[in-house]
Amino acid sequence: MTSETRFTVELARLPELALEREFRARSSDARWLLCGSDVEALRLDELLALTDDECRGLWDELALGYTAPSGHPLLRAEIAGLYERLGAEQVLTCAGADEALFLTLNAILRPGDHAVIAWPGYESLFQVARAAGAEVTPLRLRHDTGWRLDLRDLRRALRPETRLIVVNYPHNPTGALPDRSTFEGMVALAAEVGAVLLSDEVYRLLEYDPADRLPAGVDAGRHVVSVGVMSKSFGLAGLRIGWIATRDEELLERVTALKDYTSGCNSAPSEILALAALRARDAVLGRSRALVAGNLAELDAFFEEWEGVFEWVRPRAGCVGFPRLVTGGPLEPFLAGLLDEEGVLLVPGSVYEHGGNHFRLGFGRADMPGALARLDRFARRSLRA
Ligand SMILES: Cc1ncc(COP(=O)(O)O)c(C=O)c1O
Repeated sequence: MTSETRFTVELARLPELALEREFRARSSDARWLLCGSDVEALRLDELLALTDDECRGLWDELALGYTAPSGHPLLRAEIAGLYERLGAEQVLTCAGADEALFLTLNAILRPGDHAVIAWPGYESLFQVARAAGAEVTPLRLRHDTGWRLDLRDLRRALRPETRLIVVNYPHNPTGALPDRSTFEGMVALAAEVGAVLLSDEVYRLLEYDPADRLPAGVDAGRHVVSVGVMSKSFGLAGLRIGWIATRDEELLERVTALKDYTSGCNSAPSEILALAALRARDAVLGRSRALVAGNLAELDAFFEEWEGVFEWVRPRAGCVGFPRLVTGGPLEPFLAGLLDEEGVLLVPGSVYEHGGNHFRLGFGRADMPGALARLDRFARRSLRA
Protein backbone atom coordinates (compact mmCIF):
# COMPACT_ATOMS: atom_id res chain seq x y z
CA MET A 1 0.00 0.00 0.00
CA THR A 2 1.52 3.36 -0.98
CA SER A 3 1.18 5.93 1.75
CA GLU A 4 0.96 8.94 -0.58
CA THR A 5 -2.28 7.70 -2.15
CA ARG A 6 -4.05 7.19 1.20
CA PHE A 7 -6.48 9.59 2.78
CA THR A 8 -8.87 9.53 5.68
CA VAL A 9 -12.52 10.38 6.09
CA GLU A 10 -14.11 11.93 9.15
CA LEU A 11 -17.52 10.44 9.65
CA ALA A 12 -19.56 11.51 12.65
CA ARG A 13 -22.81 9.83 13.67
CA LEU A 14 -25.66 10.49 11.30
CA PRO A 15 -29.13 11.44 12.61
CA GLU A 16 -32.32 9.78 11.42
CA LEU A 17 -33.72 11.57 8.35
CA ALA A 18 -36.96 13.40 9.21
CA LEU A 19 -38.71 12.58 5.94
CA GLU A 20 -37.86 8.88 6.14
CA ARG A 21 -39.04 8.81 9.76
CA GLU A 22 -42.37 10.30 8.63
CA PHE A 23 -42.67 7.66 5.91
CA ARG A 24 -41.87 4.85 8.31
CA ALA A 25 -44.42 6.11 10.82
CA ARG A 26 -47.28 6.73 8.39
CA SER A 27 -46.92 4.89 5.11
CA SER A 28 -48.32 1.60 6.43
CA ASP A 29 -51.66 3.42 6.98
CA ALA A 30 -51.59 4.87 3.47
CA ARG A 31 -53.44 3.42 0.50
CA TRP A 32 -52.46 6.39 -1.66
CA LEU A 33 -48.98 7.92 -1.69
CA LEU A 34 -49.50 11.44 -2.97
CA CYS A 35 -46.01 12.39 -1.85
CA GLY A 36 -43.78 9.95 -3.77
CA SER A 37 -40.72 11.55 -5.32
CA ASP A 38 -40.31 9.16 -8.23
CA VAL A 39 -42.04 8.34 -11.49
CA GLU A 40 -44.24 5.20 -11.62
CA ALA A 41 -41.90 2.24 -11.87
CA LEU A 42 -41.49 0.57 -15.21
CA ARG A 43 -42.11 -3.20 -15.09
CA LEU A 44 -39.40 -5.71 -15.93
CA ASP A 45 -41.37 -7.11 -18.89
CA GLU A 46 -41.94 -3.57 -20.23
CA LEU A 47 -38.24 -2.80 -20.02
CA LEU A 48 -37.18 -6.13 -21.54
CA ALA A 49 -39.54 -5.45 -24.45
CA LEU A 50 -37.54 -2.28 -25.19
CA THR A 51 -34.14 -3.97 -24.88
CA ASP A 52 -31.76 -4.15 -27.85
CA ASP A 53 -30.16 -7.44 -28.94
CA GLU A 54 -26.82 -6.80 -27.25
CA CYS A 55 -28.44 -6.08 -23.87
CA ARG A 56 -30.78 -9.04 -24.26
CA GLY A 57 -27.73 -11.28 -24.78
CA LEU A 58 -25.99 -9.78 -21.74
CA TRP A 59 -29.16 -10.31 -19.69
CA ASP A 60 -29.72 -13.93 -20.75
CA GLU A 61 -26.12 -14.94 -20.11
CA LEU A 62 -25.50 -12.83 -17.04
CA ALA A 63 -23.24 -14.31 -14.37
CA LEU A 64 -24.30 -13.17 -10.93
CA GLY A 65 -20.90 -12.52 -9.43
CA TYR A 66 -19.22 -9.36 -8.24
CA THR A 67 -19.15 -6.67 -10.88
CA ALA A 68 -16.47 -4.17 -11.92
CA PRO A 69 -16.03 -1.75 -8.97
CA SER A 70 -16.37 1.37 -11.12
CA GLY A 71 -19.34 -0.02 -13.04
CA HIS A 72 -19.92 -2.06 -16.18
CA PRO A 73 -17.86 -0.46 -18.98
CA LEU A 74 -20.86 -0.35 -21.34
CA LEU A 75 -23.03 1.26 -18.68
CA ARG A 76 -20.39 3.89 -17.90
CA ALA A 77 -20.11 4.67 -21.61
CA GLU A 78 -23.89 4.99 -21.94
CA ILE A 79 -24.06 7.32 -18.94
CA ALA A 80 -21.20 9.40 -20.37
CA GLY A 81 -23.32 9.75 -23.51
CA LEU A 82 -25.88 11.75 -21.50
CA TYR A 83 -23.29 14.55 -21.29
CA GLU A 84 -21.62 16.73 -23.90
CA ARG A 85 -18.01 16.14 -23.09
CA LEU A 86 -17.47 13.19 -20.86
CA GLY A 87 -15.66 9.90 -21.27
CA ALA A 88 -16.76 6.60 -19.73
CA GLU A 89 -13.71 6.72 -17.44
CA GLN A 90 -15.10 9.90 -15.85
CA VAL A 91 -18.18 8.10 -14.51
CA LEU A 92 -18.46 6.08 -11.31
CA THR A 93 -21.67 4.08 -10.93
CA CYS A 94 -23.16 3.86 -7.45
CA ALA A 95 -26.02 2.34 -5.46
CA GLY A 96 -28.53 5.08 -6.28
CA ALA A 97 -27.95 8.80 -6.05
CA ASP A 98 -27.84 8.34 -2.29
CA GLU A 99 -24.52 6.54 -2.42
CA ALA A 100 -23.23 8.96 -5.06
CA LEU A 101 -24.00 11.93 -2.81
CA PHE A 102 -22.65 10.21 0.29
CA LEU A 103 -19.34 9.44 -1.39
CA THR A 104 -18.98 12.86 -3.01
CA LEU A 105 -19.71 14.80 0.17
CA ASN A 106 -17.34 12.65 2.20
CA ALA A 107 -14.61 12.87 -0.42
CA ILE A 108 -14.77 16.66 -0.53
CA LEU A 109 -15.58 17.90 2.97
CA ARG A 110 -13.31 18.00 6.00
CA PRO A 111 -13.90 19.31 9.52
CA GLY A 112 -13.65 23.10 9.43
CA ASP A 113 -14.83 23.34 5.83
CA HIS A 114 -17.86 25.39 4.94
CA ALA A 115 -20.66 24.31 2.61
CA VAL A 116 -23.65 26.17 1.19
CA ILE A 117 -26.72 24.08 0.41
CA ALA A 118 -30.02 25.27 -1.06
CA TRP A 119 -32.94 24.72 1.33
CA PRO A 120 -35.61 23.30 1.57
CA GLY A 121 -34.03 20.34 -0.13
CA TYR A 122 -32.99 16.73 0.06
CA GLU A 123 -32.12 16.28 3.72
CA SER A 124 -29.39 13.73 3.28
CA LEU A 125 -27.28 16.40 1.56
CA PHE A 126 -27.27 18.42 4.77
CA GLN A 127 -26.84 15.63 7.22
CA VAL A 128 -24.00 13.94 5.37
CA ALA A 129 -22.20 17.28 4.92
CA ARG A 130 -22.58 18.01 8.63
CA ALA A 131 -21.48 14.51 9.59
CA ALA A 132 -18.36 14.98 7.48
CA GLY A 133 -17.56 17.88 9.82
CA ALA A 134 -18.54 20.83 7.64
CA GLU A 135 -20.41 23.89 8.79
CA VAL A 136 -23.44 24.17 6.54
CA THR A 137 -25.15 27.43 5.58
CA PRO A 138 -28.65 26.83 4.20
CA LEU A 139 -29.42 28.98 1.20
CA ARG A 140 -33.11 29.73 1.78
CA LEU A 141 -35.55 29.43 -1.11
CA ARG A 142 -38.90 31.16 -0.66
CA HIS A 143 -42.39 30.64 -2.00
CA ASP A 144 -42.99 34.38 -2.48
CA THR A 145 -40.08 34.67 -4.92
CA GLY A 146 -41.16 31.55 -6.80
CA TRP A 147 -38.46 29.43 -5.05
CA ARG A 148 -35.90 31.38 -7.07
CA LEU A 149 -32.25 31.07 -6.10
CA ASP A 150 -30.95 34.60 -5.74
CA LEU A 151 -27.30 34.88 -6.75
CA ARG A 152 -26.86 37.79 -4.33
CA ASP A 153 -27.88 35.51 -1.46
CA LEU A 154 -25.45 32.89 -2.69
CA ARG A 155 -22.63 35.42 -2.88
CA ARG A 156 -23.39 36.62 0.67
CA ALA A 157 -23.31 33.04 1.98
CA LEU A 158 -19.84 32.33 0.57
CA ARG A 159 -16.69 32.48 2.71
CA PRO A 160 -13.00 31.98 2.03
CA GLU A 161 -13.26 28.48 3.54
CA THR A 162 -16.29 27.50 1.44
CA ARG A 163 -15.34 24.16 -0.13
CA LEU A 164 -18.67 23.16 -1.56
CA ILE A 165 -21.91 24.55 -2.96
CA VAL A 166 -24.76 22.09 -3.44
CA VAL A 167 -27.75 22.67 -5.69
CA ASN A 168 -30.45 20.34 -6.95
CA TYR A 169 -32.12 21.25 -10.24
CA PRO A 170 -34.80 20.39 -11.22
CA HIS A 171 -35.58 20.81 -7.55
CA ASN A 172 -37.14 18.49 -4.99
CA PRO A 173 -39.49 19.52 -3.36
CA THR A 174 -40.47 22.67 -5.29
CA GLY A 175 -40.07 21.68 -8.96
CA ALA A 176 -38.15 24.92 -9.51
CA LEU A 177 -35.65 25.32 -12.31
CA PRO A 178 -33.48 28.43 -12.67
CA ASP A 179 -32.84 30.16 -15.95
CA ARG A 180 -29.59 29.61 -17.74
CA SER A 181 -27.93 32.82 -16.61
CA THR A 182 -28.61 32.02 -12.94
CA PHE A 183 -27.14 28.56 -13.46
CA GLU A 184 -24.07 30.09 -15.12
CA GLY A 185 -23.83 32.55 -12.23
CA MET A 186 -23.66 29.64 -9.75
CA VAL A 187 -20.95 27.95 -11.78
CA ALA A 188 -18.97 31.21 -11.92
CA LEU A 189 -19.37 31.98 -8.21
CA ALA A 190 -18.17 28.51 -7.24
CA ALA A 191 -15.11 28.95 -9.46
CA GLU A 192 -14.45 32.41 -8.01
CA VAL A 193 -14.17 31.08 -4.43
CA GLY A 194 -12.43 27.84 -5.44
CA ALA A 195 -15.37 25.67 -4.34
CA VAL A 196 -16.75 22.52 -5.91
CA LEU A 197 -20.32 22.85 -7.21
CA LEU A 198 -22.20 19.62 -6.60
CA SER A 199 -25.16 19.48 -8.94
CA ASP A 200 -27.78 16.92 -7.96
CA GLU A 201 -29.51 16.33 -11.28
CA VAL A 202 -31.73 13.37 -10.46
CA TYR A 203 -34.76 15.00 -12.15
CA ARG A 204 -32.86 16.17 -15.22
CA LEU A 205 -34.53 15.30 -18.57
CA LEU A 206 -37.97 15.73 -16.97
CA GLU A 207 -38.33 19.40 -17.93
CA TYR A 208 -41.82 20.20 -19.28
CA ASP A 209 -40.36 22.45 -21.96
CA PRO A 210 -37.10 21.03 -23.37
CA ALA A 211 -35.96 24.62 -23.99
CA ASP A 212 -35.76 25.03 -20.19
CA ARG A 213 -33.23 22.22 -19.80
CA LEU A 214 -30.02 23.45 -18.21
CA PRO A 215 -26.62 22.24 -19.29
CA ALA A 216 -25.42 19.38 -17.11
CA GLY A 217 -23.14 20.64 -14.37
CA VAL A 218 -20.20 18.47 -15.34
CA ASP A 219 -20.26 20.00 -18.83
CA ALA A 220 -20.05 23.48 -17.35
CA GLY A 221 -16.70 23.17 -15.60
CA ARG A 222 -14.07 20.90 -14.12
CA HIS A 223 -15.12 22.09 -10.66
CA VAL A 224 -18.74 20.94 -11.17
CA VAL A 225 -19.81 17.39 -10.29
CA SER A 226 -23.05 15.95 -11.63
CA VAL A 227 -24.98 13.26 -9.80
CA GLY A 228 -27.63 11.32 -11.70
CA VAL A 229 -29.81 8.28 -11.10
CA MET A 230 -32.21 5.86 -12.80
CA SER A 231 -34.83 6.34 -10.06
CA LYS A 232 -36.66 9.52 -10.96
CA SER A 233 -36.92 10.59 -14.61
CA PHE A 234 -36.42 7.00 -15.80
CA GLY A 235 -38.88 5.43 -13.33
CA LEU A 236 -36.45 2.69 -12.26
CA ALA A 237 -35.82 3.33 -8.55
CA GLY A 238 -35.63 -0.38 -7.78
CA LEU A 239 -32.47 -0.77 -9.86
CA ARG A 240 -30.55 1.35 -7.32
CA ILE A 241 -28.24 2.62 -10.04
CA GLY A 242 -26.92 6.15 -9.78
CA TRP A 243 -23.66 7.79 -10.74
CA ILE A 244 -21.08 10.47 -10.19
CA ALA A 245 -19.82 12.29 -13.28
CA THR A 246 -16.71 14.41 -12.84
CA ARG A 247 -13.77 15.67 -14.85
CA ASP A 248 -11.72 16.04 -11.67
CA GLU A 249 -9.45 12.99 -11.69
CA GLU A 250 -8.39 13.29 -8.08
CA LEU A 251 -11.96 13.52 -6.86
CA LEU A 252 -12.88 10.51 -8.96
CA GLU A 253 -10.06 8.55 -7.37
CA ARG A 254 -11.27 9.46 -3.89
CA VAL A 255 -14.93 8.55 -4.47
CA THR A 256 -13.86 5.30 -6.12
CA ALA A 257 -11.75 4.38 -3.10
CA LEU A 258 -14.57 5.30 -0.70
CA LYS A 259 -17.02 3.09 -2.59
CA ASP A 260 -15.01 0.10 -1.33
CA TYR A 261 -16.46 0.89 2.12
CA THR A 262 -20.07 1.20 1.01
CA SER A 263 -21.41 -0.98 -1.83
CA GLY A 264 -18.10 -2.11 -3.35
CA CYS A 265 -19.79 -2.72 -6.69
CA ASN A 266 -23.23 -2.58 -8.25
CA SER A 267 -25.84 -5.29 -8.63
CA ALA A 268 -25.14 -7.25 -11.84
CA PRO A 269 -28.79 -7.48 -13.05
CA SER A 270 -29.35 -3.79 -12.29
CA GLU A 271 -26.38 -2.75 -14.38
CA ILE A 272 -27.68 -4.53 -17.45
CA LEU A 273 -31.22 -3.26 -16.96
CA ALA A 274 -29.94 0.31 -16.51
CA LEU A 275 -27.90 -0.06 -19.69
CA ALA A 276 -30.99 -1.31 -21.54
CA ALA A 277 -33.11 1.59 -20.24
CA LEU A 278 -30.52 4.21 -21.17
CA ARG A 279 -30.27 2.81 -24.67
CA ALA A 280 -34.06 2.94 -24.93
CA ARG A 281 -34.18 6.33 -23.26
CA ASP A 282 -36.42 8.04 -25.79
CA ALA A 283 -39.19 5.54 -25.06
CA VAL A 284 -38.52 5.38 -21.31
CA LEU A 285 -38.41 9.16 -20.87
CA GLY A 286 -41.36 9.62 -23.23
CA ARG A 287 -43.44 7.40 -20.93
CA SER A 288 -42.38 9.40 -17.84
CA ARG A 289 -43.08 12.74 -19.50
CA ALA A 290 -46.52 11.62 -20.66
CA LEU A 291 -47.42 10.43 -17.15
CA VAL A 292 -46.26 13.68 -15.57
CA ALA A 293 -48.00 15.84 -18.18
CA GLY A 294 -51.31 14.02 -17.63
CA ASN A 295 -51.04 14.39 -13.86
CA LEU A 296 -50.09 18.06 -14.15
CA ALA A 297 -53.24 18.76 -16.14
CA GLU A 298 -55.26 17.25 -13.27
CA LEU A 299 -53.37 19.38 -10.78
CA ASP A 300 -53.93 22.54 -12.81
CA ALA A 301 -57.66 21.92 -12.59
CA PHE A 302 -57.39 21.19 -8.85
CA PHE A 303 -55.52 24.40 -8.05
CA GLU A 304 -57.89 26.42 -10.17
CA GLU A 305 -60.89 24.94 -8.36
CA TRP A 306 -59.29 25.53 -4.96
CA GLU A 307 -57.89 28.99 -5.63
CA GLY A 308 -57.41 30.90 -2.38
CA VAL A 309 -57.40 27.67 -0.33
CA PHE A 310 -54.53 25.70 -1.86
CA GLU A 311 -51.84 27.34 -3.94
CA TRP A 312 -48.51 26.42 -5.44
CA VAL A 313 -45.74 27.73 -7.59
CA ARG A 314 -46.34 25.49 -10.58
CA PRO A 315 -43.22 23.33 -11.08
CA ARG A 316 -41.23 23.67 -14.30
CA ALA A 317 -39.72 20.19 -14.19
CA GLY A 318 -39.71 16.95 -12.26
CA CYS A 319 -42.61 15.27 -10.50
CA VAL A 320 -42.66 16.99 -7.11
CA GLY A 321 -44.22 20.27 -5.97
CA PHE A 322 -44.47 22.14 -2.69
CA PRO A 323 -48.00 23.61 -2.42
CA ARG A 324 -49.50 25.18 0.66
CA LEU A 325 -52.79 25.29 2.45
CA VAL A 326 -53.58 29.00 2.57
CA THR A 327 -56.83 28.96 4.53
CA GLY A 328 -58.57 26.28 6.55
CA GLY A 329 -56.46 26.11 9.66
CA PRO A 330 -53.22 24.40 10.54
CA LEU A 331 -51.88 21.80 8.13
CA GLU A 332 -51.04 18.90 10.45
CA PRO A 333 -54.63 18.03 11.57
CA PHE A 334 -55.74 18.36 7.95
CA LEU A 335 -53.09 15.86 6.80
CA ALA A 336 -53.87 13.52 9.70
CA GLY A 337 -57.58 13.55 8.76
CA LEU A 338 -56.76 12.99 5.10
CA LEU A 339 -54.73 9.90 5.98
CA ASP A 340 -57.24 8.62 8.47
CA GLU A 341 -60.39 9.07 6.39
CA GLU A 342 -59.13 8.69 2.83
CA GLY A 343 -55.85 6.80 3.20
CA VAL A 344 -53.93 9.54 1.34
CA LEU A 345 -50.41 10.39 2.53
CA LEU A 346 -48.90 13.85 2.04
CA VAL A 347 -45.66 14.95 3.69
CA PRO A 348 -45.80 18.17 5.74
CA GLY A 349 -43.23 20.91 5.12
CA SER A 350 -42.25 20.57 8.79
CA VAL A 351 -39.99 17.65 7.81
CA TYR A 352 -37.94 20.33 6.04
CA GLU A 353 -38.38 22.60 9.08
CA HIS A 354 -40.27 24.83 6.68
CA GLY A 355 -43.23 26.81 8.01
CA GLY A 356 -46.18 28.20 6.09
CA ASN A 357 -48.43 25.14 5.74
CA HIS A 358 -46.48 23.69 2.80
CA PHE A 359 -46.60 20.02 1.92
CA ARG A 360 -44.80 17.85 -0.58
CA LEU A 361 -46.94 16.56 -3.39
CA GLY A 362 -45.62 13.94 -5.82
CA PHE A 363 -47.22 13.55 -9.24
CA GLY A 364 -45.17 10.90 -10.99
CA ARG A 365 -47.38 7.95 -10.10
CA ALA A 366 -50.09 6.43 -12.28
CA ASP A 367 -52.61 6.45 -9.42
CA MET A 368 -52.20 10.18 -8.76
CA PRO A 369 -55.61 11.16 -10.18
CA GLY A 370 -57.28 8.72 -7.76
CA ALA A 371 -55.33 10.13 -4.82
CA LEU A 372 -56.10 13.70 -5.89
CA ALA A 373 -59.82 12.91 -6.12
CA ARG A 374 -59.69 11.73 -2.51
CA LEU A 375 -57.85 14.86 -1.42
CA ASP A 376 -60.52 16.90 -3.18
CA ARG A 377 -63.31 14.91 -1.49
CA PHE A 378 -61.75 15.28 1.94
CA ALA A 379 -61.15 19.00 1.42
CA ARG A 380 -64.81 19.46 0.47
CA ARG A 381 -65.90 17.72 3.66
CA SER A 382 -63.46 19.34 6.04
CA LEU A 383 -62.77 22.79 4.59
CA ARG A 384 -66.11 23.63 3.02
CA ALA A 385 -68.25 22.14 5.78
C1 LIG B 1 -32.92 15.46 -4.86
C2 LIG B 1 -32.65 14.02 -4.62
N1 LIG B 1 -31.38 13.58 -4.68
C3 LIG B 1 -31.09 12.30 -4.45
C4 LIG B 1 -32.06 11.38 -4.19
C5 LIG B 1 -31.69 9.93 -3.94
O1 LIG B 1 -32.09 9.14 -5.01
P1 LIG B 1 -32.11 7.55 -4.84
O2 LIG B 1 -33.12 7.27 -3.77
O3 LIG B 1 -32.56 7.01 -6.10
O4 LIG B 1 -30.78 7.12 -4.43
C6 LIG B 1 -33.39 11.79 -4.10
C7 LIG B 1 -34.46 10.84 -3.76
O5 LIG B 1 -35.55 11.20 -3.38
C8 LIG B 1 -33.69 13.15 -4.35
O6 LIG B 1 -34.94 13.60 -4.34
